[in-house]
Formats: sequence, C-alpha cells, structure tokens
Amino acid sequence: MAEDLQIITGSKQEVYESLIPQIRGLLEGENDLIANLANVSAALKEQFGWFWVGFYLIKDAELVLGPFQGPVACTRIRKGRGVCGNAWEQAKTLIVPDVEKFPGHIACSSLSKSEIVVPLFRGDEVVGVLDVDSSSYDSFDDTDQQYLEEIVKLVQI
Ligand code: SME
Repeated sequence: MAEDLQIITGSKQEVYESLIPQIRGLLEGENDLIANLANVSAALKEQFGWFWVGFYLIKDAELVLGPFQGPVACTRIRKGRGVCGNAWEQAKTLIVPDVEKFPGHIACSSLSKSEIVVPLFRGDEVVGVLDVDSSSYDSFDDTDQQYLEEIVKLVQI
C-alpha cells in the first residue's frame, strides 16, 4: 500500500473522488480496526485540514473516544448527548451548521463552529460515529454526507 497521500485541490466532489480510492488502498489487506480508523482520520485531516476528525466507538453503552486527529477531546459521550450522542440515538448523519445553535452540543473546543457526525453500522446497529469539526461555520453539506457515509462503509467493523 502507498503510505503517501496525494493531496489535491478542486471541488469537494473531486477531492472526495480522489481520496476514496486512496483510502481503499490504505485499508486493503489490513483488518485491525484501530489501525484502519487511525488512517482514515489522518487521511481526512490531511486532505481537508478540518479542525478535528475522529471516531467514537460504543463500549459499555457509551461512546468512547477512538482514533482521531486534532486537539484533545472529551473521552465519553452518552446516548442522546451532544451531536454525537444524537446521531447515535437517531442512527443517522447529523449536519450542524452552527454548533452554538445545537441544543446540548458538547464543546470540546470553542474553536469548533460546525460539525458533521456520521454513524458507523454493523448490520442495523450503530457501533460508533465519525465526528468531523470545522473551525468555520456551515462547512458541511449533502456532498460531505454522501461521501463520508461511503468512507465509513469501507471500514469493516
Ligand atoms: N461536539 C461533539 C463532541 C465531540 S468533539 O467535538 C470532538 C458533540 O457535541 O457530540
């Protein structure tokens, strides 16, 4: 597998279309979950430069911090709490254009302004979430949702 990521500029769609085959390459032949989640978060952070990119995995009925890139973050989130706990409870992707307007948002950093949280499924069951934070308002849209949902499906959980 290639260990260098090719970073491109272009539309969001072009960037994801370039990144996804590279992520496939990074995951190919490796079945260790932590290693794969670590590389996915690194690849997303490197390409997009978002403020924080990482995973929370459900353990003992809580979301527990997993591999991530960015500043230190809260370690445990309960179901229904914050954007992550709501995405888990609703079993669907949540896009938050302005985190200050999301009731119950958990502010790991005041620099985070918008957020997208994508659930990870094993069958029908949510087993974790991908959380991406941006230091700008309104950074995420349907294109991010579509491609990030595709990316999390590449990781065998
Ligand atoms: N803001 C998230 C908490 C996780 S951190 O942003 C890394 C939330 O409200 O669930």
